Amino acid sequence: MVALKNDSELEVTERTFDPLRTPYEVDELTFPAEGSLAEQYTHLLRYAILAPSSYNTQPWKFRLFDNGIAVYADYTRRLPVADPNSRELLMGVGAAIMNLRIAAAHFGFDCRVDYNYSGDSELPIAFASVERSLSHKTPDDSVEKLFSAIAKRHTNRNPFLMARVPEAVISRLSNLGGDADASLFFSTDATKNTTVAHLVAAAERVQQGDTQFRKELAEWIRPNKTHKSDGMTGAAFGVSDVTSTLASWAIKTIDMSNLRARHDERLCLEAPALLVLYGEDSVPTWLAVGEVMEKILLTLTRDGLQFSFFNMPIELPEARLELRKLIGVKSWPQLLLRIGYSLEKPAPSPRRPVEECIVK
Ligand SMILES: Cc1cc2nc3c(=O)[nH]c(=O)nc-3n(C[C@H](O)[C@H](O)[C@H](O)COP(=O)(O)O)c2cc1C
Repeated sequence: MVALKNDSELEVTERTFDPLRTPYEVDELTFPAEGSLAEQYTHLLRYAILAPSSYNTQPWKFRLFDNGIAVYADYTRRLPVADPNSRELLMGVGAAIMNLRIAAAHFGFDCRVDYNYSGDSELPIAFASVERSLSHKTPDDSVEKLFSAIAKRHTNRNPFLMARVPEAVISRLSNLGGDADASLFFSTDATKNTTVAHLVAAAERVQQGDTQFRKELAEWIRPNKTHKSDGMTGAAFGVSDVTSTLASWAIKTIDMSNLRARHDERLCLEAPALLVLYGEDSVPTWLAVGEVMEKILLTLTRDGLQFSFFNMPIELPEARLELRKLIGVKSWPQLLLRIGYSLEKPAPSPRRPVEECIVK
C-alpha cells in the first residue's frame, strides 16, 4: 500500500495480517454468486462468526449440507466457573444464528431455523435451512440496516457521555423484545441505576476475589498483539500494548477486586441507560435471548450508540435475585447492558477464521 505522508514524501508500507481487523473486512462484493452452495454458505458464516460471546470464546461450530447449515454449540469452549450452566454460551450461539439469518436474507436466501433442544451435545442445536428465495425481492430496509451493522458492532467498555438516550431509540428497541421468551426492561432512572451499580460492584468483588474465577478469566486474556484468534485483548479494556502483555498474569495473581468493582460501579452509575433482558431459565430462552440481544446490539450500532455488558450480578444467584426484585419480574434476568454514546472507538476483538469453525 502507498500512503502519502506529506507533499514530498511517499511512504511505502506492507500490509500485514492483522488478527484484530481482518475478519471485519468481510466484503459483500466477494460473495461467490457463481460458486458452489458450500462456498456461498461459508460466506454467510463469515458474518455469523462476528457475533459476540462471553470472553470471546466463540462457542460455535457449523457443518454444511446441501439444504442448509447445522449449528453446534461447542461445549469444549465453555466457561465452567463463570458460566456453569452454559447459559451465556448458548446466548452467543443465538447471536451467531441471528447474524446468519440477517446475512442469508441480505444475499437473497430464505432461511428457516429449527432448534433442537434434546440436550445431546453431539447433535446440532439448530439446523438453518437455507435456500434461494424464489420471490426475488430485494431484502427490506430493516434487514439491510442490520446487515450493514454486523461488521461494525463491537463491545465498548470506555466511559460513556452523559447524553441521554433518545426515547425514540428506547421505543424502537422495546419493539424487538416483547415475546414470551425474551423481554426487555429499560432503566433511565437514577435511583434504580444506582442500586444496579451497587449490585454490579458487589458481584465484581465476589468474582474477582475468587482465585478460580480469575484463573479462568486469565486464560482468555490476550496481549494486544496476539496471534490467537479468540479471547479478549487488553485493548478491549483500554489497556496499552506493554501493559497488556502482563494482564493475564496480573489477573491470575493479584486480587484487584476493589479496583475493578469501583471502576465498573462508576461506569454503571454514569450510564445514561441500562437494559435487562429477562426470561425463563431454559435452553430455548437462552438461545432466544441471544438472538434478540444481537438484534438489539446491531440496532444500537446502526443508531450510533455504544454498549457494554455487566453480567456479573446475573452470574451470582444472590445478586441475580436482587436484580429480579428490582426490575419486578417473575422470570429471571439473563443479560445486563449499559447503553450510551462514546467519543472513544472500541477495539475490535479477534475472530477464528471461518474455516476453523466449519467441521467436515
Ligand atoms: C452472553 C454474553 C455475556 C457477556 N458478559 C460480559 C461481561 O459481563 N463483561 C464484559 O466486559 N463483557 C461481556 N460480554 C462481551 C464479550 O466479552 C464480547 O462480546 C467478546 O469479547 C467479543 O467482543 P465483541 O463484542 O467486541 O465482538 C458478554 C458477551 C455475551 C455474548
